[in-house]
Order: sequence, then C-alpha cells, then structure tokens
Amino acid sequence: MSRITLTGISKRFGDVVALADISLAVADGEFMVLLGPTGAGKTTLLRLVAGLERPEAGSISIGDRDATHESPASRDVSFVFQRYSLYPHLTVFENLAFPLRAPARRFPAAQIRSVVEKTAQLVRIDHKLSTPVTKLSGGEMQRVAIGRALVRRPSVYLMDEPLSSLDAKLRAELRLELKHIQRDLGATILYVTHDQTEAMTMATRIGILDRGELIQVGTAREIYENPVTAEVAARLGTPRINLIPVASLGERNLPKPAALVGARTEHIRLTSDPGGPGTVTMVEHLGNESHVHVELGGRELVCLAEPQRAIATGSRVGVTLSNFLLFDDHGRNLDAGGRVSDRSELVLA
Ligand SMILES: Nc1ncnc2c1ncn2[C@@H]1O[C@H](COP(=O)(O)OP(=O)(O)OP(=O)(O)O)[C@@H](O)[C@H]1O
Ligand SMILES: [Mg+2]
Repeated sequence: MSRITLTGISKRFGDVVALADISLAVADGEFMVLLGPTGAGKTTLLRLVAGLERPEAGSISIGDRDATHESPASRDVSFVFQRYSLYPHLTVFENLAFPLRAPARRFPAAQIRSVVEKTAQLVRIDHKLSTPVTKLSGGEMQRVAIGRALVRRPSVYLMDEPLSSLDAKLRAELRLELKHIQRDLGATILYVTHDQTEAMTMATRIGILDRGELIQVGTAREIYENPVTAEVAARLGTPRINLIPVASLGERNLPKPAALVGARTEHIRLTSDPGGPGTVTMVEHLGNESHVHVELGGRELVCLAEPQRAIATGSRVGVTLSNFLLFDDHGRNLDAGGRVSDRSELVLA
C-alpha cells in the first residue's frame, strides 16, 4: 500500500507558522492536489513528507510505516522540485539514469537502458536522449525532471508545481500526460500547485491550503458546488463566483445569518427587458459560450450565456439568480458540509 497519512502536522520557521495542525490521508493510487496561493505552505508540506524538514508536532506515515523519524533516503519517495534540478553537464539519458545508478541499487546496465528508454517515451523525450540538458527548451527540461522522478517505482511521488514555468499550451498537454501516466502506473501522487485548472483537471481530490491551514478536502465537484467559505468559492471557477452583499438587495426572505450571496456565472439568468435593472457593459465571445458583464446597482456581475444568443452591449436586462450559495458575515457557507438547500429564485431589482 502506498498511502500517505499526515496526522496533526505543525511546522514553524521562527515566528512564521508555515503549517498548523494538518491532517490529511492520501489513498493508495490517489492523485491528491493541494491548491494554495504563494506562501500557503505547499513546498513545506512536501518537504516534510520527503523528510527534508522535521515537524514540531504530528506524525507522517508512508505505506504502513511510521516515517516520522526516517531519513529522506529510507522514505522511498521521489520528488519533482519547483525549480529544475537537472545535472547540467549530463545528457538526457544520464539525467534519467541517475537515480538508478545509486551505489545501493546496482542495476545492470541493460536494465538501466531499458527503464530509461521506456520512461523517456512516457514523457516524450526519447528523441533527445543523447542531448545535453543545457540544449533543451524549458518544457523539455521539465519533462526530463518529471521522467527522473518516474524511473524508479517509489511508494509515492511528490511534485511541487512541476508545470508552473511552462507556457499555457505545454502546460495543458503535460497536464493530460501526467494524468495518463498516473493512471497507467497506479501511482500515488501528492502534487501542489496554485493553478486551479491543474487542480480541477488532474486531482482525484483537492485540498485547499491557505496560510498554513488545510481548509477543505474533496473532489473538484464537491468543493466547487459546496465550498466551505466564500474565499474557497472564489478560489475555484473562472470567471470567479459573483459575491453580492445581502444588504444591497433590499428586503429579502433569506435565512437570517446570510450576509453574502454567491452566484456562479451559470446561476444567473438574463432576460431581455428594456425596463430591466441591469445594463450589459461587455460581452466576451469565447466560441462555445459567452460571458456577459452586467452592471447592476453599481456592481458588475459576470454571467454565462449561450454563444448563439444575441445580447447587445448597452441593452437592458432582467437578472434572476438560482442555485446560489449563501455565506454568513465570516464568509462561512450556510450549507457547508450538508446538501445545498433548494432555494427559490431571486429576482434582482
Ligand atoms: N527555510 C525557511 N525559513 C524561513 N521561512 C520559511 C522557510 N521555508 C518556508 N518559509 C516560510 O513558510 C511559509 C510557507 O512557505 P512555502 O515555501 O511552503 O510556501 P508555498 O506555498 O510553497 O509558496 P510558493 O507558491 O511561493 O512556492 C512562507 O511564509 C515562507 O516564507
Ligand atoms: Mg512552493
């Protein structure tokens, strides 16, 4: 079994609390993505699992072993670092072969060649095996870095934003490739990123990390549909969820603690209405859908519309919300954890 279990992990650097009481279980074969902004503690968490840092409190187990006090070498993990960490004087082949050449391993040359060639095919760098890594593009270097983590079959793979330095097209390609590779190998991966698209497309489950705290863990869908806070709601989904203060809506029959209405673009219906309260300020045509920006009561709402629908900039519209979320004045979702209650529609005036 290649699971990872963190129990009550805390880590500080001087006065900075990098991680506070983190408990997380990554199942065997799971692709767990931790999503969080810069400084959230993502790299620190991976380094703790790898044994490169020691926690002040808590325990870490890998597989069925308590690894809390194990040295990095005996933890059987491989790590793709946030910045490239290739050996510049070596070729692609030698970089990929490096982890297999450790004195303790003593693999025969033929076996090394075969594993390196197979891995190079997996990450599509097999046409450049004899090229020095300094002659590769950034994307190719990153493939080698990922490949180097894959040549061994460790219990778990740790990946620290491995795609963040790549251009959008390559990132999208490698995202899919990584997901395929993980499925094919049945690998257990703990992957950290600040990119919500990466999290949503690759993760079996996502953990939302913020200022050292693990705020919510669930599938992309669970978190998207039932985020625990308005902040988490804003973290997942583009364009961002529309957050409207209840106080700006006039007299409404909403549950008492509701302070904010959260309406995703697909929760807003626009009707053509020359006397409507909203004014269309911009229409973004994206091919398969359109984003319509509407000004209403000094606030801008972004709404989803079918691409074939003709909506002119400057026209007046009626605005109706359905399936919206409600948050209290601390930003907590009133339905957190439970089923999102059925709500009647809310017609904005
Ligand atoms: N070696 C260190 N010494 C002192 N403070 C550190 C050290 N490593 C991390 N920190 C602090 O701990 C916090 C978490 O850092 P960490 O590198 O884990 O964040 P991150 O989520 O990986 O951010 P990024 O997205 O920028 O890589 C930050 O406030 C950082 O300044
Ligand atoms: Mg980091």
